[in-house]
Order: sequence, then structure tokens, then C-alpha cells
Amino acid sequence: MDVRIEQAEREDFSEMIQLADLTLPDRMNLHELKKYIELFPELIFKATHEGRLIGFGCAGIDMYQTTGWLLFSNVHQEYQGRGIGKKLVEARLQALRQHPTLQRVLVTVSETNVKSIRALEAFGFALAKKEEDYYGTGKQRNIMELPLLAMPKLADKEAGVAANPLL
Ligand SMILES: CC(C)(COP(=O)(O)OP(=O)(O)OC[C@H]1O[C@@H](n2cnc3c(N)ncnc32)[C@H](O)[C@@H]1OP(=O)(O)O)[C@@H](O)C(=O)NCCC(=O)NCCS
Repeated sequence: MDVRIEQAEREDFSEMIQLADLTLPDRMNLHELKKYIELFPELIFKATHEGRLIGFGCAGIDMYQTTGWLLFSNVHQEYQGRGIGKKLVEARLQALRQHPTLQRVLVTVSETNVKSIRALEAFGFALAKKEEDYYGTGKQRNIMELPLLAMPKLADKEAGVAANPLL
């Protein structure tokens, strides 16, 4: 299947929001997405198949430029389980790696989101912390971390990208 992964642009906004509403209702809204693109224009990636938007993933960097965050990702239900989620993780990690002061990448995950956790573990992310009551009483969040040392070296990844027509 010919899936393209590339930077998202402003004209993708409405399709992105429609998709987010289908995959994770009430989680992402247009204003949040607009802020992400204003703050991190090179860290938002979309997946398309035959011109149709079938997924996207957002990332950001903290103000000290030491911590990157994977902020949101989704893949259209029809296309889930085909490696597209992992390609969106990879694209964001590659973009984050361009920032030389970065020491780690963090991501909030729900402990029941097996696909997300598997996709992240495939890149070396491991559970770092649990925060009780983060989403309200009794609703914790898990934070997974990828330390910088565990990130593949840029030269290796450049070779990998050259061999991967999807990126
Ligand atoms: C989470 C999500 C983005 C993953 O995308 P995806 O394209 O389905 O993921 P991939 O196909 O790349 O698979 C990722 C991992 O999950 C595994 N997986 C896929 N489908 C699975 C299933 N039904 N059950 C268990 N594991 C599954 C894959 O085998 C892979 O793990 P591996 O590397 O050990 O083989 C996607 O499922 C999604 O949009 N979910 C709804 C929105 C969401 O929860 N977003 C994340 C929070 S913001």
C-alpha cells in the first residue's frame, strides 16, 4: 500500500479535525491543532493514501529545548494495524532529532491503549512515571520516555530514510 508521510499544512486542518473526531472524539479541537502548527510547524506529520488523509501525528518541544513530546496521533480505523502509526512515530522522532540539545522524548499514554504502547516500545520508549488523578479523580496518566542515548544515531537514520520510500 502506497502511504505517504509528510509534513502537514494549514490546508489539511479540516480533514485532520474530521479524522480526530472519528478516532478519538472530544480529544482534539481546531484551535489546539492551529496552536500546534503555529508553535511546531515542522513537527506535525500526516499520512495519506491516494490523496486521502488517513492519519496524523503532532509533536512539540519544551521551552528549554531539552524535552520533546509526542502530543497526539491517530490513524483512520480502516487503516490501523498496518504500521502507519509507527511511521508517524518515526517521522516525528526524526524531526525531533534535528534539535541537538534534546535529551529525551516523552509521551502521555493510556495504559489500555495497547497499539499506542506497542508502537512506542518498538522505538525504545519505556514507562517512566505514573501521575495519579491527572485526568480527574482516579484517572491516572502514564508517561513513557525515550532517553536521547537510546535514539538511533542521525547517520543511521538517514541511511534508513533513504531506503524507505514512505518517508
Ligand atoms: C494508536 C494508533 C495511532 C496506532 O496506529 P496503528 O497504525 O494502528 O499502529 P501500527 O499499525 O503502527 O501498530 C503499532 C503496534 O500495535 C500493534 N497492534 C496493531 N493492531 C493491534 C491490535 N489490534 N491489538 C494489539 N496490538 C496491535 C502492532 O503490531 C504494532 O506493534 P509491534 O511493533 O509490536 O508489531 C491508532 O491505533 C489510533 O489511531 N488509535 C486511536 C487514537 C489513539 O488512541 N491515539 C493515541 C493517543 S493520542
